[in-house]
Amino acid sequence: METNKQLTIGLFGFGVVGEGLYKVLQQTPSLKATIKKVCIKNSGKKRNAPDSLFTTDRNELLNDRDINIIVEMIDEAEAAFEIVTTAMRNGKDVVSASKKMIAENLSALLEVQLQTGRSFLYEPAACASIPVIRNLEEYYDNDLLYSIRAIVNGSTNFILTKIAEEGLDFKEALLLAQQAGFAESNPLLDVEGYDAVQKWSILLLHAYGIIENPEAILFTGIQHIHPMDAGVAKARNQQIKLVAQAQKLKNGKIAAFVLPQFVKQDDHLAFVKDEYNGVVIESSFADKQFFYGKGAGSFPTASAVLSDISALRYQYKYEYKKLYHHKPHELTNDFFLRVYVSFDQLSYIPREEFEWIEEWYVQDDRKYLAGVIAFSNLTQNNWWKENNTSLILFPEPVIEEIETRKLKKRSLELAGII
Ligand code: HSE
Repeated sequence: METNKQLTIGLFGFGVVGEGLYKVLQQTPSLKATIKKVCIKNSGKKRNAPDSLFTTDRNELLNDRDINIIVEMIDEAEAAFEIVTTAMRNGKDVVSASKKMIAENLSALLEVQLQTGRSFLYEPAACASIPVIRNLEEYYDNDLLYSIRAIVNGSTNFILTKIAEEGLDFKEALLLAQQAGFAESNPLLDVEGYDAVQKWSILLLHAYGIIENPEAILFTGIQHIHPMDAGVAKARNQQIKLVAQAQKLKNGKIAAFVLPQFVKQDDHLAFVKDEYNGVVIESSFADKQFFYGKGAGSFPTASAVLSDISALRYQYKYEYKKLYHHKPHELTNDFFLRVYVSFDQLSYIPREEFEWIEEWYVQDDRKYLAGVIAFSNLTQNNWWKENNTSLILFPEPVIEEIETRKLKKRSLELAGII
C-alpha cells in the first residue's frame, strides 16, 4: 500500500465548505494533499484564492490524470451525481458532501462503486464533524444495534435553541443560522425536515443495510411548531428538538422517522444545543453511547472532508457490511406512537382514529390533545401537518404491543387510577 503518495485534489464548489477545506488544507501540510483545480459555476465572484485555481469547465478536473481525488461540494444534486459517477468511472476516488444527491441515488452509487472499485466516501454529508458513518459501518453489528436517535440538522437545532433560550423569534433565529453559513441555500430544506431525512436515509444504510428513498420515510420539520407548544415544553421542563429515530422492533423490522420530539432534561439529546448534532446509539451490550459535535459550518464540515481524504491514502472504502454481509433489515409501519397534537379547531383532528386519548387542553384560540396513534395513520394521511396543526412525539420508545397497553390502561381506568 502506497501510503506516501501525493494526493492531488480536484474540488467542485467553493462555497462555505469548499473554501473552508481550502484553508484547512493550507494549514495541514503533513497530509500531502493539494488542490490542483477548483470548478465553480459563476466565474464573476471575488474569491479568497488565486484566480488561476479556478475554472468553469468540469472536464478540466475530471479528465486530468494528475488529479486522483475529486471532492464534490456543490448544491445541485443532478450535477453532483454526474460529477461523482464520472469521476469514479475515470478512475478517481471521490469525497462528497451532497446528502440530497447521495440519499436519492443510493442504489446507483452502490452499483458504480462495485463496477469501478473506487472509493466513494461521504462523512461530511451526515452530522458534519461527527464520524458517525464510519462508526456505524465499522463498529456496530446490526444484530446488536437496538436503536439510534439523533439530531442531524444543525440549523433547526440552532433555531430551536435560540427561540427557547434567548427568546428570539423564528425569523431572527433563521437569519442568524443563514449568516453563520449553517443553513442550506434554500433554508426550507432545513426547516421542513428534508435535509434531516436525507441524512437519515444515508445513516439507515450504514446502520441497518436499508436502502430507502428519503421521501418514503415519514418526516416533518419544525415549521408547524406553535408558540403554545414551546410553552407546554417549558412547563414540563422539556425541550423540543427535531429528532431522527430508528428502532429495531421485536420482529426484527425497523421503525424509522424524523419528527419533532419533547426531550427530557436527562436525555443526552437535551445537551445538544445550537448548531451541534448528537447521536445516541443503543446496542445490546454497550447500552447507550453518545456522539456529539458540530453538525454544520465551514470548518467542522471541512474536518470530515479532511478525514475522508486522509482515509483515501489507505484506500479505505465503505464495505456496506450490513447490506452485503448481513441479512439487511426492512422498514415497517406497523407500530404506534404517543403524540401531542396542537391545533386551531377540533374538526381538523380525526379523534376517532386515535387508539386512545390521554389528555386535553382547550384555550380560546389554541388547543391540544395527547394520545396514541398508529404510525400508519400518519403515513397515510396529512391531517397532522395541515391547517396549522403541530405534532410532537412524547419521549418514549415506539409502542409495539398495543393490545397489552390497551388492557393495562383499561384496568387502571376501572380501578379509578386514571
Ligand atoms: N444545513 C445543514 C444543517 C448543513 O443545518 O445541518 C450541514 O449539513
